[in-house]
Amino acid sequence: MPAAGRGVRLGAGTPKAFARLHGRPLLWHAVGGLLGSGCVDRVVVAVAGSDRVLAATALDDVTERVRIVTGGTERSDSVRAALEAVTDADIVLVHDAARCLIPPSVIRSVVDAVRAGHRAVVPVLPCSDTVKQVDDHGTVITTVDRAVLRVAQTPQGFDADLLRRAYATGGGHATDDAELVERLGEAVTTVAGHPRAFKITTPFDLAVAEAVAGAP
Ligand code: CTP
Ligand code: MG
Repeated sequence: MPAAGRGVRLGAGTPKAFARLHGRPLLWHAVGGLLGSGCVDRVVVAVAGSDRVLAATALDDVTERVRIVTGGTERSDSVRAALEAVTDADIVLVHDAARCLIPPSVIRSVVDAVRAGHRAVVPVLPCSDTVKQVDDHGTVITTVDRAVLRVAQTPQGFDADLLRRAYATGGGHATDDAELVERLGEAVTTVAGHPRAFKITTPFDLAVAEAVAGAP
């Protein structure tokens, strides 16, 4: 679980993983969501080195199923660090701490799809907005056909060996993990995501999360 970002856009005065939602850190909600899904055994959390003690305190009720490692400069550095701490899993999920309201049904769909033989699985939503491609000045070049677009969420699920290969040879950084698998030329499958799996990025998103957390 990459949780080492600074949360600049949220501007909470603390790294985003430690911003509070109904009194508990986002990290606590996100880890609890995974462990409570019934199909995740262990979680490796990547946080900034200076936040490891804070993370351990935030997760002290699930300590035996959580390992905390030091993340890196970019999200992919953090995922790589967490992946190095996963030694004995056949299936690995990569899940953003910032998507802390993840419904268990999405986690199960992703795991089921990997178990069914899909080696890279991404939960997605249809694109409901009209999307414009623009030039450097903001002038519209074209309207993209949104019927073929999907918005990618996490957790993204992988055959562990494939994800390791993607991180070893996929090259450079990516904003999600499936992209590194795509660069290998391997197939990436989609399953239905969920609006509650949205990423908390801005104060508006946190307000939305406060409003919907606890709702069925
Ligand atoms: N992340 C990480 N290590 C980084 C950067 C990001 O583990 N070096 C994690 C974040 O903690 C978050 C997820 O990747 O759970 C998605 O990143 P993002 O939403 O961009 O979070 P931040 O980088 O914290 O936010 P911002 O870009 O606004 O600073
Ligand atoms: Mg970021």
